[in-house]
Amino acid sequence: MEVLKVHDKKLRQVSEDISYFDDFLQLFVNQMIETMYEHDAIGLAAPQVGVNRNVIVVDPSMGEDKTAIKIMINPKITERSGTIETEEGCLSIPGFKGIVPRSEHIEVEFSDILGVSQKIKVSGILSIIIQHEIDHLHGILFVDKANSVKMVQKTKILRREEKIA
Ligand code: CO
Repeated sequence: MEVLKVHDKKLRQVSEDISYFDDFLQLFVNQMIETMYEHDAIGLAAPQVGVNRNVIVVDPSMGEDKTAIKIMINPKITERSGTIETEEGCLSIPGFKGIVPRSEHIEVEFSDILGVSQKIKVSGILSIIIQHEIDHLHGILFVDKANSVKMVQKTKILRREEKIA
């Protein structure tokens, strides 16, 4: 799947909830996961592949730990605490990084791929990626929230080290 870049209007729209948990959704999520791994990313939101629906996939291990993948349908942050600032990047804004303030701990409600409601508490890097991806569902990009943004060189190695979502 093609990943949309920063000026695409679809990245600025508010996405809609998924209501049918069918084979089409499974296929779409599989394609999102494939696209995320293809780009060495740690997260991807549906609007980034041109679909304004509330679907995100997250994997801080970039495919190395088969149990690390999180598929979240209609995710909502229900609790937040603490603050944490790290450098973020985004597949839709290649070549830029920024320091973004986030909540350190969050509680997220979502449906799994079968439509079953789940609630988890996460901290640290996982919390940051999930907040970054949920922002995409609201048409928000990391540069909107960053304290500072800088241009970086785009080498494959750098991308692997710095991690992008
Ligand atoms: Co992003």
